[in-house]
Amino acid sequence: MSRSGKVTVVGAGFYGSTTALRLAEYDIFETVVLTDIVEGKPEGLALDMNQSRSIEGFETKVIGATTTADGAGYEATANSDVVVITAGLPRKPGMSRMDLIGVNAGIVRGVAENIAKHSPQAVIIVVSNPLDEMTALTQLATAFPKNRVMGQAGMLDTARFTYFVAEKLAVPVSSVKTLTLGSHGDTMVPVPSRCLVNGQPLTTFLSESDIAELVDRTRNGGAEVVALLKTGSAYYAPSAAAARMAKAVIEDSGAVMPVCAWVDGEYGISGVYLGVEAEIGKTGIRKVVEGNLTDSELSALKAAAEAVRAKQADVKDL
Ligand code: LAC
Repeated sequence: MSRSGKVTVVGAGFYGSTTALRLAEYDIFETVVLTDIVEGKPEGLALDMNQSRSIEGFETKVIGATTTADGAGYEATANSDVVVITAGLPRKPGMSRMDLIGVNAGIVRGVAENIAKHSPQAVIIVVSNPLDEMTALTQLATAFPKNRVMGQAGMLDTARFTYFVAEKLAVPVSSVKTLTLGSHGDTMVPVPSRCLVNGQPLTTFLSESDIAELVDRTRNGGAEVVALLKTGSAYYAPSAAAARMAKAVIEDSGAVMPVCAWVDGEYGISGVYLGVEAEIGKTGIRKVVEGNLTDSELSALKAAAEAVRAKQADVKDL
């Protein structure tokens, strides 16, 4: 099996370390680098992951590197093809993702600048919250072309929606297809018209109010986990989503996924990072894929765009 490329995961919390392990276990990368500002933590986790290689059967090497805010340690990440930024604080119970904007903006900006310096050709996948704003900030801080910076949200929100539908109907998750667009927050836009169960419209199986209930649970999917955990936020489903995006980049697969991407005219919306479907490859976002939406779904997407546009305009001053 041929392995190629280097992926860096910034932040060795649960989200980052689980993402790094998933990426290593794909066994498609030459190297996975895991960094953190907590001295020894990324090195320790990398050593532990490498020790699992003979059991799990993967040859991808995992390298841990402690970094500092002034950029020391980032040499280990040099010339990464893909970088997943998980750095920043997670929510506490009762917090919205937006409550994190002040503290996480400073952290993400510093990380983005260091990544741009050491991996000027990388594709960056941002997962730090608030997601849409941190994605916009990363593009500003790196000055990378907009196609090379994207955010992870739609994959996760879609997976949650799919799970809730499958549970409700007692069918395998593999027979359910759902879609969410918009923001990774209050203006998340589930798209029932594009949701299918065994190829049949979701509306054949569920009433409007049942669908509305599942949509609501999806919108609060992250907060529900945070409330149960009490400390920290979700990471199994989020890391699965981020890792699949990184895989699509390194394999140049052209997979179409719901992601946070720069929108430039699609759906009549311009100049904002927003959750849409996009084709992913080694250049990052190859193109935004415009699907059919009902009038009410389209107006919800436009409303989401305006809500995140206002917040994204503020990030340059953070
Ligand atoms: C969530 C966080 C990771 O939705 O945004 O779980």
